[in-house]
Amino acid sequence: MAEIKPRVSSIDPVWQRVCEEAVEAIRAEPLLGGLIHSGLLHHSSMERALAYRFSMKLASGEMSEQILREIADEAYASDADLGAAARSDLMAVYERDPACHRFLQPILFFKGYQAIQAYRVGHWLWRTGRIDLAYFVQMRVSEAFGVDIHPAARVGKGIMIDHAHSIVIGETAVVGDNVSMLHSVTLGGTGKEDGDRHPKIGDGVLIGAGAKVLGNITVGRCSRIAAGSVVLEDVPHNTTVAGVPARVVGKAGCAQPALTMDQILKLK
Ligand SMILES: CC(C)(COP(=O)(O)OP(=O)(O)OC[C@H]1O[C@@H](n2cnc3c(N)ncnc32)[C@H](O)[C@@H]1OP(=O)(O)O)[C@@H](O)C(=O)NCCC(=O)NCCS
Repeated sequence: MAEIKPRVSSIDPVWQRVCEEAVEAIRAEPLLGGLIHSGLLHHSSMERALAYRFSMKLASGEMSEQILREIADEAYASDADLGAAARSDLMAVYERDPACHRFLQPILFFKGYQAIQAYRVGHWLWRTGRIDLAYFVQMRVSEAFGVDIHPAARVGKGIMIDHAHSIVIGETAVVGDNVSMLHSVTLGGTGKEDGDRHPKIGDGVLIGAGAKVLGNITVGRCSRIAAGSVVLEDVPHNTTVAGVPARVVGKAGCAQPALTMDQILKLK
């Protein structure tokens, strides 16, 4: 078999490793050669690969792959923070998700990772005043991945959304850096407030599966919200809350619990 050579054109250890893993994956499973070549090895950078993935997953009869790829290429080219956040999110998933063993998995197969990268392109459109295109991206991300993040919501970097079915993040929500959330999390309004009506989640927070955080409340850094909780009041820093409505049940046991979810969940 001819040697497979990645098209890495700059020094980028993350992308370099993705490409090395991609070559290995094709060796192990030649039937994935087409997908891995077109999705990863064909591209000269992580940004180009992510733009391609965005276009492939979100194209429909209403909007072609070519147009979507142009939009994403423009976003990545004009805002270097998008590429930096994509690498940071990749490291977050790799470090915190016990089921992630290689960098290429989130890019090719994990819808939580793909959804957050697509939201970031939609948020860039929103910030640059292309409001309806941003809404279009929100709709397609919701349809394709079951992740509904308003393009005006502000989300930090180092984010892991595991499993990612049925995630809802409202318009005025703010999510800090290094936050982890499981499936079926809602960061929503109570229905009783207008304007700034969504939660503000601090750095390093872990939000368990099915948790609903409602209203313009603050969850302090490094706190944990137990699975299935309904949080209606502010949560102090380094605190664990659980139940419906959520009550304080203990201290969060580490500086950044979101970074050690594998130990908390004991899945690895
Ligand atoms: C909250 C959590 C992080 C554990 O934190 P912890 O500080 O170790 O808490 P503990 O296990 O010591 O439990 C403290 C108390 O909260 C209760 N509690 C824990 N999780 C709870 C939950 N989801 N709902 C209600 N009560 C809960 C415990 O029963 C215990 O009550 P007790 O003091 O009356 O005995 C963990 O229970 C959790 O919910 N993790 C999210 C996991 C998840 O989403 N998994 C999905 C994988 S797909």
